[in-house]
Amino acid sequence: MAVGIFDSGLGGLTVLDAVTRRLPDLPLVYFGDNAHTPYGVRDAEDIYHLTTRGVQCLFDQGCDLVILACNTASAAALRRMQEGWVPKDKRVLGVFVPLIEALTERQWGDNSPPREVAVKHVALFATPATVSSRAFQRELAFRAIGVDVEAQPCGGLVDAIEMGDMILAEAMVRSHVEALLRRMPRPEAAILGCTHYPLVEEHFRTALGPDVAVYSQPNLVAESLADYLTRRPEMAGAGAVTKFLTTGDPQKVSNKATQFLRRKIAFEQAELPDA
Ligand code: DGL
Repeated sequence: MAVGIFDSGLGGLTVLDAVTRRLPDLPLVYFGDNAHTPYGVRDAEDIYHLTTRGVQCLFDQGCDLVILACNTASAAALRRMQEGWVPKDKRVLGVFVPLIEALTERQWGDNSPPREVAVKHVALFATPATVSSRAFQRELAFRAIGVDVEAQPCGGLVDAIEMGDMILAEAMVRSHVEALLRRMPRPEAAILGCTHYPLVEEHFRTALGPDVAVYSQPNLVAESLADYLTRRPEMAGAGAVTKFLTTGDPQKVSNKATQFLRRKIAFEQAELPDA
């Protein structure tokens, strides 16, 4: 059995790491589309085609369940994929819903009507494509009423993280947070709506200050996956080994991944289905 984890690059490793801690015996196949990262500045059509190609590669590896550990792909492509592309015996799940369920104090998978929740002012930090899709606001509106969301498109941040330029990344976090706080001075909660951002989570926390509750996806996605697999154990799929696939240069990607996760990660070249 193996579950697939898809991202445009290295950010999904934050989700993989949390899933590995929560479900240590579950084999995972990671796909990073490093040759095409960042997705956050692409249009929805482009993101759809790149995402379906990567997810097909994970299906071909024996994964019946794939987590889109990429908010940009979840926002711009997931709904279209679920409506007409995902085969009946496979599942593709995004990373927004667990986050919103946590923010709105719901049990995993609780689809009851929207209701008032404690939090009223939410700051969303995400890629330009995720912000312009408004997918976060749409999913939130299915579950909560009366929540004001102020979104900050964090252009350039994913590139800085992928390049490993953490000094630039820190400066960008500070300026994006300042820009948002000018429009919403007192958010109660902040959402890190990009799986790359946990790699700079401490900088977000420092810039936001101690009064803002920061919601970060990796542990929430891992918890909700564990719950899902209890209900649907057959979706763990046929693959049996953990592996890391990339469309980029495996050596370079392995070096950066090892630096980010502080443990040895060896990527292999992904075999892609025809575009
Ligand atoms: N880490 C991804 C996300 O969660 C993708 C960022 C990008 O490729 O721009 O949005």
